[in-house]
Amino acid sequence: MSRPRILVTRRWPDAVEAALSERFDVTLNQDDAALDLAKLREALLTYDAVLPTVSDKLPASLFDGDTIRTKILGNFGVGFNHIDVASAKAKGIVVTNTPGVLTDCTADIAMLLLLSVARRGGEGERELRAGSWTGWRPTHLVGTKVTGKTVGIIGFGRIGRAFAQRCHFGFGMDVVFYNRSAIDPMEAARYGAMQLQTVEEVLEVSDFVSLHCPGGAENRHLMNAARLSKMKQGAFLINTARGDVVDETALISALEQGTIRGAGLDVYEAEPHVPERLRALDNVVLLPHLGSATEETRTAMGMKVVDNITAFFAGREPPDRVV
Ligand code: DGY
Repeated sequence: MSRPRILVTRRWPDAVEAALSERFDVTLNQDDAALDLAKLREALLTYDAVLPTVSDKLPASLFDGDTIRTKILGNFGVGFNHIDVASAKAKGIVVTNTPGVLTDCTADIAMLLLLSVARRGGEGERELRAGSWTGWRPTHLVGTKVTGKTVGIIGFGRIGRAFAQRCHFGFGMDVVFYNRSAIDPMEAARYGAMQLQTVEEVLEVSDFVSLHCPGGAENRHLMNAARLSKMKQGAFLINTARGDVVDETALISALEQGTIRGAGLDVYEAEPHVPERLRALDNVVLLPHLGSATEETRTAMGMKVVDNITAFFAGREPPDRVV
C-alpha cells in the first residue's frame, strides 16, 4: 500500500522531520517560507495530511468544494485559532494539536516578560547596547518590585496553572484568577491561587495581569478599552496567549496615556506585523512569539504531531484530537 502523502508547511526540528520521513511520503519546506492561501488550498487538494503551524491561516473558504484530499490537519502547536475547525469538521477532516509539552516553556516566557517589563530590562539593554549608559545612580531605570505583589491570571488551564505556580512559589505573589468554569478550590490552592467570579474583579486587584486563555472568536478583544481601564493605574499586562485576545489599538492608547504602566507581549493581532506605535513605546517588552521556542519543547511538539498522524493513518484515535 502506498504511504500517505504529507505536507509539512514550515521547517521543523531535524529529529521530527527524520521521523516523519521514515513513516510517510513527506514533502518538507526546505526554504521555510510561509505558504499563502493559494498554496494552502493547493495543499488541501493534493496531500492526505497537512501539518500547519500558527503562521498558516486556514479560513472557511479554503475548505470549499468537493475535491479536498486532506483527511487530517496535524497542527504543530496547542493553539489552533488559525484553523476554521468548524469548516474542517464539516468536511470530515480531523484536526489535532500538541497540548501538554509546551506548558512549562510558555509559563517561563510569561515570567520572563513580567520580570523584564517590571524591572525595565528591555530599556536597560537598549540603553547599554546604544552606548548611552553613564553609570550607576540611585534614580537610574527604577522599576517596580515583583515579589509579594498580586498577579491576576485570565484562563486557568495548564499554562495558567504553571504560571501561577511560578508566581506564588517563586516570587511570593498572591494569585487570583478568572476561569470560565469553576475550579475546585483545593486544586487552585495547589498553585497558591484563588478563583474570582469575573474578569473585572481580577483586573481591579491585580498589579500584573497575565492572559492564558485560548484565542479565537470566544475571546476576541477580551481585553478591550473598557477592561484596560479597569486595571490598576500602575499595573502591567502580559500576553503569551494569542494576539486577538487583546484589542491592540486600545492597548496602545492605554500605554500611551498611562492608563496602565506597561505590557509584556509575545503575541500580536496580525503577526508578524507589530504596529509602529507599539514598537515606539519604552514601557513595553516585545518578543517575537517565543513561548514554546526551546529545543526540547519544539521537538516534543513535533513528535506529538508524528504520534497523532501515525495513529490516524493506522486507524486509531489520534491522542490529541480537537475535532
Ligand atoms: C502554540 O502552541 O499555540 C504556540 O503559540 C505556537 O502556535
